[in-house]
Amino acid sequence: MPGLGGAAVHGHAGQVLWAECGGVETLVFQGRRHYYEGDGWTPVALPVFLLRQLGAELLVLTNAAGGLHADLDASDLMIITDHLNLMGDHPLIGPHDPAWGPRFPDMSQVYCPKLGQRLGRIFEALHLPVRRGVYAAVTGPTYETPAEVRLLRSLGADAVGMSTVPEALLARAAGLRVAGLSCIANRAAGLQPQALTHADVLQAARAMLPKLRAVLEHFWKELPHELGPTHPAA
Ligand code: HPA
Repeated sequence: MPGLGGAAVHGHAGQVLWAECGGVETLVFQGRRHYYEGDGWTPVALPVFLLRQLGAELLVLTNAAGGLHADLDASDLMIITDHLNLMGDHPLIGPHDPAWGPRFPDMSQVYCPKLGQRLGRIFEALHLPVRRGVYAAVTGPTYETPAEVRLLRSLGADAVGMSTVPEALLARAAGLRVAGLSCIANRAAGLQPQALTHADVLQAARAMLPKLRAVLEHFWKELPHELGPTHPAA
């Protein structure tokens, strides 16, 4: 896709699917672009811009993350309730473009609480532990040091990763509803005995896909009741 470029990260598919899921027209972006790839914000923002231009109402963001909270184990799914932007940058820095809402968009409720509750009910129905928490975004590409992990914990973060927050900020600014799910692929650095590798993270995240898929299937089936009247009932 022009402007989006290819997914540069090994293990990230780099394709866009257009599908009807549970009666809801859906675009699936497989393999997001990341700020650490060094191409700036355009490839990160483009999927959200596209969704906005197409009149999408909802963005569901998924990621792999390191668990910081004591209750978050590898292979847990976490419903994102809020976030910390610790990237030291912001995708809306620059001349104001009204496509992204007002100059100073409100972020008091980035992740839709109603959709978060719905996700919680789905977790219960699937007998998954209901974990909720704050996701902290760092730029990477290094994983954290144990000292940084202690800092993140003291700042109130429950999970840490290198994505999601820019897209959530943009989508919310543009008026979309946002939901977020973190696949806890590992305990963060210093909280697990072994060193972190991308291969291990990828493997752990892949092993969680059936769980994530089950949650999203339920979620999508119930979405027509949630969204506007232009969406046909499932
Ligand atoms: N830190 C940052 N990003 C990550 C991690 C982590 O521990 N695991 C998966 N993505």
